[in-house]
Amino acid sequence: MDLYERAEKIKNFLAEKISYTPQAAVVLGSGLGSFAEEIEADFEIPYSDIEGFPVSTVPGHKGRLIFGKTGGKNIVAMQGRFHFYEGCSAQDISLPVRVFQLLGIKNYIVTNAAGAVNFSYKPGDLMIINDHIGLFCPSVLTGENDERFGTRFPSMSHAYSRSLIEIAHKAAQNTKTDVQEGVYCYCKGPMFETPAEILFLRAVGADAAGMSTVPEVVTAVHAGMNVLGISCITNMAAGILDQPLTHAEVMETGKAVEKKFSAYMKEIISLI
Ligand code: HPA
Repeated sequence: MDLYERAEKIKNFLAEKISYTPQAAVVLGSGLGSFAEEIEADFEIPYSDIEGFPVSTVPGHKGRLIFGKTGGKNIVAMQGRFHFYEGCSAQDISLPVRVFQLLGIKNYIVTNAAGAVNFSYKPGDLMIINDHIGLFCPSVLTGENDERFGTRFPSMSHAYSRSLIEIAHKAAQNTKTDVQEGVYCYCKGPMFETPAEILFLRAVGADAAGMSTVPEVVTAVHAGMNVLGISCITNMAAGILDQPLTHAEVMETGKAVEKKFSAYMKEIISLI
């Protein structure tokens, strides 16, 4: 079965369960899954109960799709995502986005945990992504192009929607949330970066480093969706502080900001 057929089958299965087209798909990153509690769910399903859907293996990623209402809007949330470092294929990583595309969803909101490359950031900050660097990792669009999904050579000049970025700033004002705006660099993972790599990333213009998001965003842009990305800065990147990085630290900061993050996300969704 090709990716289109796989995505279509899942789309048909999900479309039978809901009576609306969600206004946004929201992907919840490491430690940020508790936003799901803000959703009045109509329909929830573990990935493992969706035939043909990949299953996430990262601790802190629940692996559940939730359809419901928050901020006065119908949305679908993904609690847990897929990464190349788990051994997932490009097809697996792009599949959820393709399902959303076939469901007719126009807005794709990604969240993630990231390390601060920019010295002026601190753990607990939220960063609106205004661009990304994905050069160091394989493209999710490698292989034959399916024109039903999008064009062979998509532009990435406006990958992150300027109007959604403005909405994210407005939501920050309304909820009195301090936000940063900057460039996210996609790193291979699952190892954290070395101090020398972070020095390099700073020199080329990155503000934050993470191990996800870019493959999905590239897929969503290829699909013609409007993309918004929010990073939760969970730690200073390697070499800034004299201590090794751990996934536990990432999860702890996620937990510490979950209230602020959830209120902020809800406001963003209400303004879309
Ligand atoms: N590097 C890469 N990915 C991350 C980090 C980091 O420092 N923190 C959370 N995700």
